[in-house]
Amino acid sequence: MRQRNCLLRIAAFTLAIFCTTPALFADTVWLSALDLKQMTAGWGNAMANREISGGSLSVAGTKFTQGVGTHAASKMRVNLDGNASRFQARVGLDDGSGGNGSIEFIVAGDGKVLWQSGLITGRQPAKAVDVNVKGIRVLELRVTDGGDGISNDRADWADAAIVMNDGASAPAALPPHESFALKTKTLTVNFQVGEDGRLYQFPIGGTDTNAKLLRDDESYPQAGDGYIWEPALQMVHADGNTSTALRYAGITRTNESADIELTRIHLRDTAYPCDVTLCFRTHDDDDVVEEWTEIQHQESHAVILKRMDSTALLLNTNVYLTHFFGDWAKEMLSPITEEITPGTKVLDSKIGVRATQFQNTSFILSLNGKSTETNGEVLAGSLAWSGSFQCAFDNNGRAVRALCGINPFASSYPLKPRDTFTTPTMIWVWSANGLGDMSRKFHRWARDFGMRDGHKTRTVLLNNWEATGFDFDFNRIASLFGPAKEIGTELFLLDDGWFGNKYPRTNDHAGLGDWQPNRSRLPNGLAPLAAEAVKHGVQFGIWMEPEMVNPKSELFEKHPDWAIQQPKRELELLRNQLVLDLTRPAVQDFEWNTIKSILGVPDIAYAKWDCNRYLTQPGSPYLAPDHQSELWIDYVRALYALMDKTAKAFPDTELMLCSGGGGRADYGALKYFHEFWPSDNTDPVSRVPMQWDYSYFFPPTAIAGHVTHSGNRPMHFACSVAMSARFGMDLDLNKLSAEDEAICAGAISAYKKIREVTSLGDLYRLEDPHQGIRGTLDFVSPDQSRAVVFVFQLQNGQSAVVHPQGLDPAKSYKISELNPAPGRPAIEQEGKTFTGEELMRDGISPSCSKTLEASVIELRS
Ligand code: GLA
Repeated sequence: MRQRNCLLRIAAFTLAIFCTTPALFADTVWLSALDLKQMTAGWGNAMANREISGGSLSVAGTKFTQGVGTHAASKMRVNLDGNASRFQARVGLDDGSGGNGSIEFIVAGDGKVLWQSGLITGRQPAKAVDVNVKGIRVLELRVTDGGDGISNDRADWADAAIVMNDGASAPAALPPHESFALKTKTLTVNFQVGEDGRLYQFPIGGTDTNAKLLRDDESYPQAGDGYIWEPALQMVHADGNTSTALRYAGITRTNESADIELTRIHLRDTAYPCDVTLCFRTHDDDDVVEEWTEIQHQESHAVILKRMDSTALLLNTNVYLTHFFGDWAKEMLSPITEEITPGTKVLDSKIGVRATQFQNTSFILSLNGKSTETNGEVLAGSLAWSGSFQCAFDNNGRAVRALCGINPFASSYPLKPRDTFTTPTMIWVWSANGLGDMSRKFHRWARDFGMRDGHKTRTVLLNNWEATGFDFDFNRIASLFGPAKEIGTELFLLDDGWFGNKYPRTNDHAGLGDWQPNRSRLPNGLAPLAAEAVKHGVQFGIWMEPEMVNPKSELFEKHPDWAIQQPKRELELLRNQLVLDLTRPAVQDFEWNTIKSILGVPDIAYAKWDCNRYLTQPGSPYLAPDHQSELWIDYVRALYALMDKTAKAFPDTELMLCSGGGGRADYGALKYFHEFWPSDNTDPVSRVPMQWDYSYFFPPTAIAGHVTHSGNRPMHFACSVAMSARFGMDLDLNKLSAEDEAICAGAISAYKKIREVTSLGDLYRLEDPHQGIRGTLDFVSPDQSRAVVFVFQLQNGQSAVVHPQGLDPAKSYKISELNPAPGRPAIEQEGKTFTGEELMRDGISPSCSKTLEASVIELRS
């Protein structure tokens, strides 16, 4: 009985061995058993155990019952996952070719060729292949046409089999072209490695990842070797070759946190030891991608980078671009939305020490038609660079490429062997639900990564600039501290005019560069003034402009060659000043020592870092004549090094970024700062649309809004507008009327109540001031327990209801108007409670309906 059982078991086992395909032996898998749909063929479809047109596999008269018949050019990728030991086959031209044709078989593993047949022509006997594939993850089987076209190139992988390790899971055929995606929660960017080894990108906004990719669709295209549109990379190799030809060389992914992944796509030139890495840091939840490029080489000497973009993303056509033209005192005031038609649309600046003022490094792309606050696919872009930049939107009729980076204009840059050139970072923010959702994601990212202390609320600031200008001394300033405290401000900012002795800074013609406190205005320096402020219960802040020099200064007398200038040209002054040459190490030391000496004064809690001119004569007396083009890049790099050092050495000092108004509203510099000055235009009528536009990209807590008399607008309107940004005042408190003083005090106390919500909450832009008679917005706290609605009436109109957004429909909110305008009736719903659903549906009636009236309404659950 026992013997019988045993015999039965042996029979069953034998049956199992012979009946189980594809296993040849326990660990060997026939190639023909894999999914042959994944094998490409230049003609027909690959077949299991048959030649390409269905006949028997036959090479030089020898027939094979096992194998795969294909046709050049052919490719198959197999996932071995490091679990195989050998690939074996007998390969040749099938007899069905009638003795014609010529082919070559190639076996590659993880991108490296492991075996090559050499040219095989008709009637040659099958060649044996036996390749060690230990540790290989992806096996690639290729057949080329032998260089003479594919006619009659029927190719047989006869008896082809993969020997797997004991117990390993079966190998699987992979799609023929390596493809991968960059993903955040709702954005996917698909890439594919082409037959030619180049990296391609499927246009964002398109859906068909089976579409045939053309040469035009190369990711990060390079100039000089076949690509004819606007390239992302243009370089001159050490031997003078002006072309670059990058091929895909691998991808690495690293999790930096549960939400953040760094993807590095490696590309390598086919003929030069030159590597380009495309880097993408994806923030999953917020649909943010930070993108930059690293370039490195090991050529015999420096290569010259002529163009090196941070990004070159491809999008479908039907893209609308919103960009923001401006000028001094008109920054961001003119949004323009236009379709990107065939051709190249360029936004750029060539002003060296700042990026913005005229054009902006931030823009919005709306895919598949125009977008609104609540609808549409939008991709906002912002280049983190404070120097000359270029964004080119290149529509070639098939797709739109968005290229952004350092402006190639006059900026050739030598890159030494083994050095790495890292481009500025491009920030992309995606939403499929319109501009509002995009901005809220952008703001969340900015509070976490784009600015300093983005999760802290801010003090109420009082600046003396509009009050005193250059005309002050110790006593005049000290006399402002008492009223500052009394009205409720928490920080006093002393602006320009406190320094210079031989050439006192009593106007903007002299003194920049001589950073010693003026002895007649501040006989004992800054420290007693700062201490006096603290004594009155307000913090003290200071203005500085470390990068600049007036020709009328001791510094310029001593070091005229420290200023940026062109030889043999008359010095061109802007605001009577010149820019110091930060490429010169002595200037770097001087500026660092200046900053240290100012911020090192006890009790300095805040600084405004200004930069009141841009470059118009970009010559460096320090750089050699043949290195002048490096000024544009080296200046900004040295500036960032200085800002970084400052932020690290003075971690508790709050910093405002200013550049003759809003010349440095960019994320390259903002990461070292707490806020930026958006414009010298403080007229609240301009600020309503201006703050609206900035808020597409920057959280309002980073946008300084100061109440001034500019435009002579009603104080209540001016205060309400400033309160929706990072609130401050630039007023002579001693000269305020009693009514205005009360309005300001009320606004300050109201701001203190709501600043948690406006600084840390989510912004909903409701009614666009560019389009209607008013601008309205609301902020909602992260837990939706509180909200603040702002209404700014720009023209007379009916007091139509405002529909807030972002509330919790189920929560009940009590309504109260904050700091109501004197003399106006209370709002209808004052003191009443409604659910979020009711408020969002039925709206709130503000008290304002006339030009330059405003309402600030708090909702509390
Ligand atoms: C620039 C700033 C102003 C003020 C002056 C001082 O114009 O934008 O706010 O600081 O400089 O000179």
